[in-house]
Amino acid sequence: MEAIIWENDRLRLLDQTKLPGSIEYIECDNYRVVAEAIKRLSVRGAPAIGAAAAYGLVVGAKQIAANDRATFLAKVSAIAEELGATRPTAVNLRWALERMMMRLTTAPEQEVNKLLDIMLEEAHAIYNEDVQSNRRMGEYGQELIPVGARILTHCNAGALATAGYGTALGVIRAAQEKGKNVSVYADETRPLLQGARLTTWEMVQEGIPVTLITDNMAAYLMAKKKVDCVIVGADRITANGDVANKIGTYGLAVLAKHHNIPFYVAAPLSTIDMNLASGDEIPIEERDAKEVTHHGGQLMAPEGVQVWNPAFDVTPNSLVTAIITEMGVVYPSYAENLAKICGKKKE
Ligand code: MRU
Repeated sequence: MEAIIWENDRLRLLDQTKLPGSIEYIECDNYRVVAEAIKRLSVRGAPAIGAAAAYGLVVGAKQIAANDRATFLAKVSAIAEELGATRPTAVNLRWALERMMMRLTTAPEQEVNKLLDIMLEEAHAIYNEDVQSNRRMGEYGQELIPVGARILTHCNAGALATAGYGTALGVIRAAQEKGKNVSVYADETRPLLQGARLTTWEMVQEGIPVTLITDNMAAYLMAKKKVDCVIVGADRITANGDVANKIGTYGLAVLAKHHNIPFYVAAPLSTIDMNLASGDEIPIEERDAKEVTHHGGQLMAPEGVQVWNPAFDVTPNSLVTAIITEMGVVYPSYAENLAKICGKKKE
């Protein structure tokens, strides 16, 4: 099941808010539809929103009525700003849009039609490279997974959260492809249940044994010695190796440390933000109170109660055993080793 489809010159996004109950695609004939789909988490997961925004920019560029390059570029840049403002935490969103703008503004072509072709080519490249990165991440990451490992994961860092295959779930898929007979515990991931709705769905389709738990069961699960390692994805990793990921990830990392369980983060280099020194600088998205007070459209708390709803938290680098990337597995000291690996990519 693909989260993002570009076919016959049109963009379609799988509406993940409807999963697993129904499979519906959103036809994106306007970039504002893409922006709205990102905001409401119809398309979600750091690499997926990057790729969706890149295609969204193409959709927006096609809407522009301008024949001269300068006007066209100015309008595309305004659309990129709008798409980039949809969600603040995952750096892949801005990374993809900046990459698109860089390709566009450095292209010597003058004709708008040719510029549109170049943009589409770049969006395809972002999409295809993400799938390849995930495969490579899987290859490197699976080496860390023992035969028969019981793996705890949080949120959804699978095919649905990327252009395909997944980051954390990609490592799990790769381990299974090597015949390691792994099994998965999926945190339900309150409040929007990406674990319960999406991760279990992907694992069931893949035939990988999966057990769903509520978020508050992880401590007891570990105490009962039922977890061999934790693998999660990331929305942004700073230069010192601090990791922003779905709210609840930090708690799991603390628990893993206490129980002496390895805690791995799988993420492509597009998720590493070398411009930020530490996790304190990461903008953390706060979402609508209704996500917490309501369940299935039903109010579950006193009307008007005060709510705090950060969508992500930051796990300090000291709790991260290793970061799995498409360039290899990175160990502490992260400040030194992430710089090396990010430098390597640019060569
Ligand atoms: O709010 P979401 O569903 O976009 O949050 C997604 C996550 O936190 C994922 O773990 C992260 O983006 C990595 S996806 C490969």
